[in-house]
Amino acid sequence: MKKVILTGDRPTGKLHLGHYAGSLKNRVKLQNSNEYDMYILIADLQALTDNSRDPEKIRKSLKEVALDYLAVGLDPSKVTIFVQSQVPELTELTMHYLNLVTLARLKRNPTIKTEIKERGFGESVPVGFLTYPISQAADITAFKADLVPVGEDQLPLIEQCKEIVHTFNNIYGNVLKEPQAVLADNQACIRLPGIDGKAKMSKSLGNCIYLSDNSEIVRKKIMSMFTDPEHVRVEDPGKVENNPVFTYLDAFATDEDFQKYLPEYKNLDELKAHYQRGGLGDVKVKKFLFQVVEDILTPIRETRAYYEEHMELVDKMLEDGSKKARLVVQETLKDVRDAIGINYFSKND
Ligand code: TRP
Repeated sequence: MKKVILTGDRPTGKLHLGHYAGSLKNRVKLQNSNEYDMYILIADLQALTDNSRDPEKIRKSLKEVALDYLAVGLDPSKVTIFVQSQVPELTELTMHYLNLVTLARLKRNPTIKTEIKERGFGESVPVGFLTYPISQAADITAFKADLVPVGEDQLPLIEQCKEIVHTFNNIYGNVLKEPQAVLADNQACIRLPGIDGKAKMSKSLGNCIYLSDNSEIVRKKIMSMFTDPEHVRVEDPGKVENNPVFTYLDAFATDEDFQKYLPEYKNLDELKAHYQRGGLGDVKVKKFLFQVVEDILTPIRETRAYYEEHMELVDKMLEDGSKKARLVVQETLKDVRDAIGINYFSKND
């Protein structure tokens, strides 16, 4: 049997280069290896836990995320892309798991703690938001997933999921499978900084390059990127650490890119060495980065434009994917109900 992969995103906006580096690129690779059964969920219910007053944003973003998936090369004939709210059995699973987690444990979750602070919720945090890690454990365990490729910020959620698996299996018998988190393998990809140099590319910080940005916008964003503030004149020695231009090159530039666009350097190490010595200007490095990023984004943009003209295909993908995912979750829910013993009216009681 193939190993099962489950992963997903909250639909709160378009996807950006940080998503591409941290997960999308790897998903396409895993898809094309043909070694896994992969499910990708668009977590609209999770997105609603802190956007309940703005469901229109989630509805719109759902389509944007689906377009971004197709644009990067995820292929619905190879992976199952589905919508969380269209698989109601996930909600019942969540209900069973709610009893296995304490309020104190939820409040200790570092991801949730940070998010509550960022949103200024304090004690007025919606219960649905505080408990979304439990719903996320339902998403993962529903597919008996072996692997969960995620960003670094999601690790505490996978830990929480493992605890739920252990608790459930201890009480009710060995039904659920323990998942394992998988991070991107390139350090720069794990957390791509924003174009302003802040630690994370994030919509709320307004420092993103979106997969759907046009060429001109990408050029402007890259040419205005934060670099080393002490690298004032070309002759000055520059720092490559915490310099997002170099972090992006770490994430994306290949030796072939150097051959193609900057043949006077063999590779990124040589370029970095020159920058550190002094004598290499930011503009030249940024122009190179722009070409590297454009090579990645051009085909993505073209595929996106095609599907934007064929939204009926996008809707069909989501509907078919959700039906398929639902069949899998129904099986797991049956096992869970049997294990708890609430299968009162089923024939083989
Ligand atoms: N929490 C994830 C995010 O913020 C989305 C998500 C929901 C998810 N359920 C999941 C990710 C299950 C991995 C596995 O984007």
